[in-house]
Amino acid sequence: MTTISIIGAGNMATAIGTRAAKHGHTIELMNRDTAKAQALADQIGDGATVGAFGATPAGDIVIMAVLYSGAVDVVGHYGDALAGKTLIDISNPFNADISGVLTTAGNSASQQIAAAAPADAHVVKAFNLIFGGVLAQDKPVDVFFAGDSAEAKARVAAFLESLGMRPLDAGGLEMAYILESAGILLMGLARNGAGFDIALGAKAL
Ligand SMILES: NC(=O)c1ccc[n+]([C@@H]2O[C@H](COP(=O)([O-])OP(=O)(O)OC[C@H]3O[C@@H](n4cnc5c(N)ncnc54)[C@H](OP(=O)(O)O)[C@@H]3O)[C@@H](O)[C@H]2O)c1
Repeated sequence: MTTISIIGAGNMATAIGTRAAKHGHTIELMNRDTAKAQALADQIGDGATVGAFGATPAGDIVIMAVLYSGAVDVVGHYGDALAGKTLIDISNPFNADISGVLTTAGNSASQQIAAAAPADAHVVKAFNLIFGGVLAQDKPVDVFFAGDSAEAKARVAAFLESLGMRPLDAGGLEMAYILESAGILLMGLARNGAGFDIALGAKAL
């Protein structure tokens, strides 16, 4: 299939990397702590590699699997190494008690990342409404995504389909704020009876 680069080596890097490798992609892991990236590459197997944190990613798709608090700094650290890449922002910029988001309309995490990234990189919001535990189950969940580049969105949609997911285009990158806010809805449902084994989706009636 294709090489997918993932920045980060935590829960979501593990869940996405494992699922993508299972569906035939080659995974490159990049983390500020290289030993953690190597340990995850060993765990994923299937030819997963480790790239230097800040070097040019091998994949055309680069998944930003880091915390919102560090995401803009990470993009700055990579600088021109991200030129031409499709950056998938998966972050949920929750406040401390997960009652709201730290971002605002017009200044979503994705838009902040886009502002910090090279002009010819394209940011797509995706995966933020899927719990890592749900991803790991390899179920055919819906994935809402948003972005300004039709080409980058088509690339991300094809990637999501290759993972057995249904991509649902929510619109331009301004919709990233809505997807980030929907993370509060997902957490509210999970914490108030639905549990964490759920995913948001759209239903044709
Ligand atoms: N967990 C979920 O179910 C879930 C679902 C949807 C979206 N998300 C989003 O996915 C992202 C990752 O979540 P996670 O659960 O994988 O978190 P995690 O397990 O805590 O892993 C976070 C990763 O980010 C890296 N990181 C954090 N701050 C950094 C910084 N300033 N510079 C460089 N790297 C930094 C960490 O590096 P080290 O390994 O060196 O500490 C780690 O690899 C978050 O934005 C979260 O909101 C999570």
